[in-house]
Formats: sequence, C-alpha cells, structure tokens
Amino acid sequence: MHTVRTIADVRSMVRLWRGQGERIAFVPTMGNLHAGHIHLVNQARRRADRVVVSIFVNPMQFGANEDFASYPRTLSEDSIKLAENGAHLLFVPEAGELYPRGVAGATRVEVPGISDILCGASRPGHFTGVATVVNTLFNIVQPDMAVFGEKDYQQLLVIRRMVADLCLPVTVVGVPTVREADGLAMSSRNSYLTAEERARAPQVYQVLCQVRGRIQDGEADYAAIEAGAEQALIAAGFRPDYVSVRRAEDLMPASVADQTLVILAAARLGKTRLIDNLPIELKNRQQNPIISV
Ligand code: PAF
Repeated sequence: MHTVRTIADVRSMVRLWRGQGERIAFVPTMGNLHAGHIHLVNQARRRADRVVVSIFVNPMQFGANEDFASYPRTLSEDSIKLAENGAHLLFVPEAGELYPRGVAGATRVEVPGISDILCGASRPGHFTGVATVVNTLFNIVQPDMAVFGEKDYQQLLVIRRMVADLCLPVTVVGVPTVREADGLAMSSRNSYLTAEERARAPQVYQVLCQVRGRIQDGEADYAAIEAGAEQALIAAGFRPDYVSVRRAEDLMPASVADQTLVILAAARLGKTRLIDNLPIELKNRQQNPIISV
C-alpha cells in the first residue's frame, strides 16, 4: 500500500491505474478505523481493481463545541489495518491541501433540505462540511465508485443527492451497518464511552428494534411510537435528539401509505453522541393498521 499526502501524488497513481484500464473504488474515512470501516474496504475490493482510502478529520463538518480536537487520530494502527486488508492507496492530506484558503474561505457544497433535518438540525452546517469534503475528495480521486456505511444514513442520502445534482460520475454504494455482538452499531466515537456507558449503549439499537416491531405489528401512530421510544431512552439515561420514522428515500416524515421506511435515532450518553438506524419494509402491511388513541 502506498501512502501519499498530496493531491498530485494521488492523481499520478490513479492516472497510472486508469491507463491500465483498472476500476477504482474509494472509501473516505476520518480514521480510527474499526471493523465497520474494514468491511467497507472489503466491499470496495470486491467491486474494483484498486481501492483508495482517505483519512482526514474534516474540520468543516465539526461545530464549534464539538469534538474536532479530541477526535481519535490513530494513523499508524489504521495504516497497518488497511495494508492487511488490501487497500492500495492511502491518502492522508493536511488541512491546507484540501482547504488552501482555510476552512472559512473555502467554496462550499450545500445540499438544501435534507441537510437541515434530523442530525442537521442538531448539528447546523455539518452536512455542508461533509458534502464539501466528499465532493473535493471525489474530484481528487475521480473514482468509479465510492463506498459508505449505512450507519450514517442521512449522510449517505446527502451524498447521493449531491452526486445526482452535480452529475458526478461516481456510483455511490451503501453498505449495511456492522454491529457489535450486543447490537451496538460500530462507530469511531464508541471509544469515548466509559465501561458503564458502553454496557448501556446497545439500548439505542434495542429501542429501534422495538419501534420496528410495533410498526410491523400494524401500529400506525408514528408520533406516539416516536415519543414512547424517546421516553424509553430518557429512562435509560440517554438525552435523545430524536427518534423518527421516515421515508427511506428522502427522510421525509412517513405516512401509513409509505412502505419503505427507516427508523433513525440520535442520543447523547455522557459526552458521546450515538446515532443508529434500522430499515423497515412494509410490503405485507395489513389493511387496517392499529392507530393508538
Ligand atoms: O463518515 C465519515 O467518516 C465522514 O463524514 C466522511 C464521509 C469521511 C467525510 O469526512
């Protein structure tokens, strides 16, 4: 595996591979890699001849009071994992390489609407930071495809919409969430949890499963189900930002007529903000859904 720090070095490597007719898959990350990231790399390898991974803790997607400074940076361990798992090129830019005029002076990519709801409401500007850096990285790497985890479901939809609206020639591949044995979605931020919080953290997944069960059983008062789920998280010591049943295609609030849904949750536990989601398909929904009163 080659490790490079400049745009010019990425371009010359990719040019060489393209000249050989090879297909390129890209996995953008912020490092502190876990089994979920490695699964993305393996999925990328199955689909392309060459796999490019980036590690860049993107300052533009962090709010002023968020964890940019403390975000875990584990480059040596990450490099070993990537090399062992068959990545071909690791791009580790400095901030000045991607933002030559600084973050404040950088041109931005804004994906309106979908960036402002759910996590975007709790983290204003976050998805503009994500869309901007992913667009820049796409322009540098020029991959045939890019692989993202469905754990960050809203991020995945923001990127899909950006790619569609800007006519970017990149196929976006979403990969199902990798979970710990107890159901907790893998995340770099899980390393912030204390032992006691780590034991409680899977309750986010358990609450999502309960919501899915109630909807599959025919309950259709989504507002009541969401409120109950938030109460369950509060009772378990979380500070929920939201639990929400949405249309999977665009994250608009779901009605009983919608069949392809996603249940999303974001909740704080101590200083850690956890997010998770579960897809739900209601093809065989019963004719008379239960409406709670
Ligand atoms: O999901 C992440 O790790 C980041 O948001 C991404 C896509 C690498 C952009 O910085």
